[in-house]
Amino acid sequence: MSKNVNIDWSNLGFSYIKTDFRYVSRWKDGSWDEGQLVEDNQLTISEASTALHYGQQCFEGLKAYRTKDGKIQLFRPDQNSKRINNSCRRILMPEIPEEKFIDACIKVVKANEHYVPPYGTGATLYIRPFVIGVGDNIGVKTAPEFIFCVFCIPVGPYFKGGLAPVNFIVSEYDRAAPYGTGGAKVGGNYAASLYPHEVAAKKGFADCIYLDPATHTKIEEVGAANFFGITKDNKFITPQSPSILPSITKYSLLYIAKEYLGMETEEGDVLIDNLDRFTEAGACGTAAVITPIGGIEYKGNLHVFHSETEVGPITKKLYDTLYGIQFGDVKAPEGWIVEVK
Ligand SMILES: Cc1ncc(COP(=O)(O)O)c(C=O)c1O
Repeated sequence: MSKNVNIDWSNLGFSYIKTDFRYVSRWKDGSWDEGQLVEDNQLTISEASTALHYGQQCFEGLKAYRTKDGKIQLFRPDQNSKRINNSCRRILMPEIPEEKFIDACIKVVKANEHYVPPYGTGATLYIRPFVIGVGDNIGVKTAPEFIFCVFCIPVGPYFKGGLAPVNFIVSEYDRAAPYGTGGAKVGGNYAASLYPHEVAAKKGFADCIYLDPATHTKIEEVGAANFFGITKDNKFITPQSPSILPSITKYSLLYIAKEYLGMETEEGDVLIDNLDRFTEAGACGTAAVITPIGGIEYKGNLHVFHSETEVGPITKKLYDTLYGIQFGDVKAPEGWIVEVK
C-alpha cells in the first residue's frame, strides 16, 4: 500500500467517502475521449441534461477484493461491462467498449489502492461506474453528449456479526413494467423503489419483495437483489423474467450450486402462494453476497423458511464458496477473476 489512510476498517458501513481519484470520459460527436483520472469529485453539467429531466442515466456496482497475499482482484467485471451496455442500449446511450470499461475500473482501483481494505476485515472497495446524458437539450430525446464516470469507496462487510437472516414483506407496488426497464440498471427503477422500501422499513422489514407486475403471483426481486430458494430435494431455484435485473451474483450462484456443490438448478416461476416448497431462501447481490431470508410476510401471514435467526446449511455453503472465490481463498472458475496489477 502506497499511502496510509486513516480509516477504521472494521467499522466501515456503506457510506460515501471521497477517495482520491475518479475516472471521467466524455462522449461527443460520435465517440468517447481517452478519459482521465481526476481529483475533483464535482461534475458540472448543463441544466438541460437529459439525466436530470428524463432519467437518461444508468450505473453499475462491483467490488475490488484484497486477497490473503495482498493482491487486489475484481470479480467478473466483464459481466458488469455487458450489463452497462445492455442498460445503455435500452435508454439510447452510447455503449462503452469492454476494454475501456474494465481499464477504467482498474485505473480507479490502482489510483486509490490505499483505500482497498485489508484481507480479513470482510471490507472491500466498492466501484461505481455510471453513464449520464448531458449537454444542452430540452425535447424528450437522447442527449447530445454523455459522461462515463467511475468512482470508488471502501465499504464494510454487510454482515458484521456473521450471516443473519432478515424478514421481507411483499409490496403492493411494482418496480418495473413487464417490458419496461426492470432488466436494465437505470436510475428510474431505483427512484420507483424508494417509497415501497420506506413503507416496508416503517413496518419493521428489511425491504420489500416485488411480485411480477403482470399477475402479482410470482416473486421477481427482493429489494435491490435477486431471489433464490432451496427446495426440499436440494434444488437451487431462482425466478426468470425480463423485468428482473440479471444479477451477476445470482448467475455466479447458479454456477456454484451446480459445479461446486453438485446441486440441480433451475430458473423458473416462484409462486408466492407456494413457498412451502423451499426449506431455505435468500437474496443475492454484490453488496451482501447473500442475505438469508428468515421469512416473507404476504397478506398478513409471515412464512418462515429455515429459521428467523439461523442461516440454513445450503445458504451458508453457497455464501462461503462465493465469498472464498471473491477473496481468492477458493479456486475461481476460468475468467471470473481479474487481478489489478
Ligand atoms: C434491482 C437489483 N437486483 C439485483 C441486483 C444484484 O445484482 P448483482 O448481483 O449484479 O450485484 C442489484 C444490484 O446490482 C439490483 O440493483
